[in-house]
Amino acid sequence: MSPFHVTRTLPEDAMAAALRADVQHGLTSDPKWLPPKWFYDAHGSDLFEQITELPEYYPTRAEREILVARAGEIATALPARTLIELGSGSSEKTRYLIDALTGLRTYVPVDVSDSALTQAGKALVAERPELDVHALIADFTAGLTLPDTPGPRLLAFLGGTIGNLLPAERAEFLTGVRALLSPGDALLLGTDLVKDEQVLVRAYDDAAGVTAAFNKNVLTVVNRELGADFEPDTFDHVARWNSEREWIEMRLRSRTAQTVKVPALGLAVDFAAGEEMRTEVSAKFRQESVRTELAAAGLELAHWWTDEEGRFALSLSVAG
Ligand code: AVJ
Repeated sequence: MSPFHVTRTLPEDAMAAALRADVQHGLTSDPKWLPPKWFYDAHGSDLFEQITELPEYYPTRAEREILVARAGEIATALPARTLIELGSGSSEKTRYLIDALTGLRTYVPVDVSDSALTQAGKALVAERPELDVHALIADFTAGLTLPDTPGPRLLAFLGGTIGNLLPAERAEFLTGVRALLSPGDALLLGTDLVKDEQVLVRAYDDAAGVTAAFNKNVLTVVNRELGADFEPDTFDHVARWNSEREWIEMRLRSRTAQTVKVPALGLAVDFAAGEEMRTEVSAKFRQESVRTELAAAGLELAHWWTDEEGRFALSLSVAG
């Protein structure tokens, strides 16, 4: 049996404390908001997997198309001995990279979800017994310490998840990533691209209502974890394109005037009829905006690959 380690850098109760702080802050702000990271309990992660298979939700398929076509080029550009994947989840698309990286010795999946990491890690170890899998239970938005593994190192952040960070958060995140890279290492970043508004809105407001259920699931999470009494069916799912910021915003709109109690925080939160609470931004990029944001963090864009239709991009950048 090959090595399979799990390191927890997240204190057991850190997530609970972070949720409390976020809900306290977000529900007492005007306008109200909740951060998207709380979508992903077991049910939310399952709904997200369903989203990736919807006809309207193109990013997962577009990114997979790029990985299938370009994994060889990526491996040639950066023949990594260590692959680090942030927000690895089920690690499904990573297989293309792992298969192409013939000199790979160590795979470091990083996720806040213990169960996703352990499952994916064990499956991989069974298939690639020579690979050392060092899973990290960590919140990559809160600073990371990586295990001391052989270089060159390829740090992958796929799925367009960087778009769920606000601009200032992205700048901080990329600066943190830059600090983790040594000469010869690289960042492989997945970014969804600006495109026709209808296509974008449909991807976040599908006909089957899966994204609506995913959005409302955050209320169920707050109910369970903080004893709140949100009634998810009294909120409508809203997906809107913000053309100035070039991001999709998901919101929950209260159908009626209502008061929601959050006992764990001693809060009573009033919603007006029609009031909207932001639950996610999903920023869409252009090659120039990606290049500029990378450069601001000391990273230099070296390769840019898109799918045939130009919907999604993978970029490879190096410490500049
Ligand atoms: C793949 C996590 C980046 O913003 O597209 C899917 C999550 N939100 N549908 C995205 C999501 C609504 C998603 N990420």
